[in-house]
Amino acid sequence: MTHEHRRVTEMAATYPASDIRKMFNLALDYPNAVKLTVGEPDFNTPEHVKAAGIRGIQDNHTRYVANAGIPDLRTAIAQKYTARWNRAVTSDNVMVSFGAMEALTFALDVSVSPGEEVIIPDPSFPNYVGQIHRLGGVAVPVPVTEANDFKLRAADVATAVSDKTAAIIINSPSNPLGSVMDQADLEALVDLSDEHGFTIISDEVYDEIVFDDAQFTSIAEVRDGFDRFLVVNSFSKTYAMTGWRCGFLIGPSDVIAPMAFLQEGLTSSLPGFVQDAAVAAITGPQDPVATMVSSYVERRDLLAERINAIDGLSLIRPEATFYSFVNISEWGLSSWELAIRLLQEQELATIPGSAFGAQGEGYLRLTFSVSPETINEGCDRLERFAAAR
Ligand SMILES: Cc1ncc(COP(=O)(O)O)c(C=O)c1O
Repeated sequence: MTHEHRRVTEMAATYPASDIRKMFNLALDYPNAVKLTVGEPDFNTPEHVKAAGIRGIQDNHTRYVANAGIPDLRTAIAQKYTARWNRAVTSDNVMVSFGAMEALTFALDVSVSPGEEVIIPDPSFPNYVGQIHRLGGVAVPVPVTEANDFKLRAADVATAVSDKTAAIIINSPSNPLGSVMDQADLEALVDLSDEHGFTIISDEVYDEIVFDDAQFTSIAEVRDGFDRFLVVNSFSKTYAMTGWRCGFLIGPSDVIAPMAFLQEGLTSSLPGFVQDAAVAAITGPQDPVATMVSSYVERRDLLAERINAIDGLSLIRPEATFYSFVNISEWGLSSWELAIRLLQEQELATIPGSAFGAQGEGYLRLTFSVSPETINEGCDRLERFAAAR
């Protein structure tokens, strides 16, 4: 086909479809289905955050604003992470984005050229593969296994590094695994980055949803002076703000600076009133976050207890996020087959593990950011399925 006659580019025509979206669409035919699929808090945005957004509209913060984000928000983010990381972060290190999704776009745009490789954990958030595809990059999956406590190991990453490696995306705490990377692996990754020069893109959107005595370490905290990283983060999960579409990046100022020019050509800027709400989320009371996190702990415990009591299913108790990765291998069905049968036979919507990469085969992802009643009803249905098998 000649270029003049082409209607859709090769890239668009071959964009990998999300299996998560496919499951959502299938579940639409079952309006009464119990859904353990969602990737967002079931809490509403805290009242003081909503009020700040409304005030922003009333104050006519309804025009274009700075590409990199309003100064108040960049400063608030810089101050929060200076304190959290015990490392100087200034507003020049911060870029505001449309959710963590656009933060990932920027991180990849500045780090990866067409044909270069990006290492990703397998299983991981499926949009990584899509975004790398969009850029003409090559995704190189590194297996993350239950035998390794669902933690990405630096030794496995080392075997995947080549002279084409431009970046690695890590995601601790992990969607879908609910695990947190060990400090020793982060240190070894920093060594690898120093040796080979690739950028570490660290998706830390669940950095505040960490339970019990699990020890989360940001890539920014690993080593003084190391700055070949871009932290991707968001207000979506921490503050129950998924629909506001407010995210951000933190990294070296010379790497952050070009992102403002890229934003000019993409969306210009996030709405000012959305950013006002985000400022309130950071600078206002943090007890809504603590309340949400302690409710996830209770729900995690309930789900783990119920799942581990079902014959043939097992679950490592997640130490973070609101996702559990349930081992279904004893049931002898592929994760798609099981997810479809649960939907058709029990009206229970789940996400097949294979939606997150080849290594996700043999697992189902169940979300516990739903009410305890929904968790109990979902587990009742799993029990009924188990009994009828
Ligand atoms: C690991 C991970 N990264 C990024 C995102 C996107 O978040 P946002 O709503 O900020 O775009 C999600 C959302 O599910 C996620 O799970």
